[in-house]
Order: sequence, then structure tokens, then C-alpha cells
Amino acid sequence: MRLLVTGGLGFIGSNFIRHMLAADRGVRILNLDLRTYAGNPASLADVARGPRYRWVKGDIADPAAVDRCMKGADAVVHFAAETHVDRSILDASAFLRTNVVGTQVLLDAALRHKVGRFVHVSTDEVYGSVARGLSREGDRLEPNSPYAASKAASDLLVRSYVVTHGLPAVVTRASNNFGPCQYPEKALPLMITNWIDREPFPLYGDGRNVRDWLFVLDHARALALVLRRGRTGEIYNIGGTHSCDNRELVERVRVLMGVAPGLVRRVPDRPGHDRRYALDCSKLKALGFQHAFGFTQALQLTVDWYRGHEAWWRPLKKKGGFRSYYSRQYAALRKGRASR
Ligand code: TYD
Repeated sequence: MRLLVTGGLGFIGSNFIRHMLAADRGVRILNLDLRTYAGNPASLADVARGPRYRWVKGDIADPAAVDRCMKGADAVVHFAAETHVDRSILDASAFLRTNVVGTQVLLDAALRHKVGRFVHVSTDEVYGSVARGLSREGDRLEPNSPYAASKAASDLLVRSYVVTHGLPAVVTRASNNFGPCQYPEKALPLMITNWIDREPFPLYGDGRNVRDWLFVLDHARALALVLRRGRTGEIYNIGGTHSCDNRELVERVRVLMGVAPGLVRRVPDRPGHDRRYALDCSKLKALGFQHAFGFTQALQLTVDWYRGHEAWWRPLKKKGGFRSYYSRQYAALRKGRASR
């Protein structure tokens, strides 16, 4: 199978590519990735020399680049996206361009080239905050951040191409991913890398926001299954094995890492911060999916990975881009009260 992966230098995409190359000897992967701030060729250094993988630097919103890459593809797995909620609050423009226009360019090319399967990788954030119960695939979309709104828009665009043009597409909506190669602006890698340096983790608001935690390798396995067995036009929720609030997460990681209490600083809350996400995954289970990693085991693997790969993340945190984002985002930190 010739697979076009978009955004394969990113966190989830790179883990998916490594998984597919190992799990399927017959797959050849072309990775179309612009190498934005969050894309890192070092994440795939171990497979980059192999004959079954190739990276093409290009923008999914560029129809000519997309057309060239789509030629000969049997299937597409579309990860390329701006993903960080806090950045979308600071400036939403890149989110609209990549997540919405980029998806439309890909869908048009997939139609032209008669691709046999299009997997659109999306997020549970499109459902918005759910006070109780679980979000099901048919629930109303109530995105609250510009990021979530851009993903909801792209999900609907995919739906329209299925209904109107008969494109054989499926949508997946995953919960909060964690694991190796996640850019350290996200909560877990920020926490782990800050604590390796004995620096505080900035906890937003009261820390009672609940997230469902999905190990990225289980996500990769679920996507491989949906690629094979998913039914055209369907949406599949992909949740993790553990749901908890941010206070519990902080405490679990603190204990795992052997860090003394006190390295948490309460900062003002993110505007529009969704209180809780939770997914009903019975459709995915009906396809035969089972998690391979327990939560504590996966957290430990993640902590170990960041401890063992300082050469991967230290340069990222030193870069001007991270620092200027961090100082914009955490200007509030200086005003925050120390706690715990
Ligand atoms: P994040 O990793 O940004 O994922 P998302 O917002 O897409 O769920 O954040 C996970 C949770 O952690 C979320 O409730 C926000 C919170 N958070 C903090 O408390 N401090 C931080 O510095 C970050 C980045 C997130």
C-alpha cells in the first residue's frame, strides 16, 4: 500500500509512521510536512534512511505540492494541523489556513486521484465541554476554542465530500495524546521537561479540568485499524485508558518522577477553558480495538523517554520561537500566585 501521510513530522504523525512501517512490511509512506515549529525530522531519524519512507517538505494548502504527492497514493492519513489551543487564542489565522483550507485542498486532490481511503484525524475538542456523560459521534459540535472550531469545520468539510462526491473518507476524534516526541508546549511534556530542570509547571485556574489521556502508540494502533476496517462516512472516537483532572495528573507525574511537592505554580485560567472531555468509544471497540498500554505504564514510558532524549527537546525549548511564545503565553505567570 502506498500511503500519503500529512504532518508526519509532528507528534502523532511521527509515531503513526513508525508504527505503520514496523507493523506492515508492505507499506510505503510519503510524508508531506511543512516542518513548522512543531515538526521535527529528528523524531523519525531512525526510519528516515529506509527505502519505504520519504519526507517531502510542502504545505497542504498548496494545491500543486499536494497534487504531486497525491499521485499514486492508495490512501491518505491526514494529521497536518495547527493544534495548540493557547496559540489559537493568541492568533487563529494559521489554524484556519492549515486546518480548514489545507484539508479542502487535500480532499480535492484525493478526489481527483481517486484515493481509496482518506482518514481525517480530528479531536474530541470539537464536542466542546461535557459536564457529565460521554460524547458520542453523533453529538452536536460545540467547539469553544478557535483551534476546536477549525477542526470542527474540517470534520464537516470531510462529511460534505463523502455525501456530495462519494469520497471514501472517515473521521477519527481522539482524546488528549501523550508520549514520545510531543512538542513541549503541551501540558505533559512541559511538566516533565520543566521538572527535569526543577522548574515549576504552570497550572491553569483551579486545576479541576478533566481530560481523557490516550497513549500515542495506542492512538497509532487505532488509526491503523480504522484505515483498514473503518466504514466510509463514519466517525470513530478514540479515547484513552484514564480520565482525570489536571491536579491528579500533576500529582501522578510528580510521584513517578520523584519530584518534591511545590513545583507547581497556579496561574490565571485559559480563556474559554473547557472543563471536561470524555468519549464513548463503543464504535471503535466494535471494530475490534483494545488498548495495549495501561496509563501508569504509558506515563512511565513517556517520562523515561524525555529523560533519555534531552538532545531532542532541549534545543526546542532554547529556540527563540518557543521562548517568545512562552513569554507571551505566560506573561500571566509572573502575576500568578505560587501554590502548594
Ligand atoms: P493541553 O496539553 O494544552 O491540551 P488541551 O488543552 O488540548 O486539552 O492541556 C491539557 C490540560 O492542561 C488542559 O486542561 C490545560 C492544562 N494546562 C495547564 O494547566 N498548564 C499548561 O501550561 C498547559 C499547556 C495546559
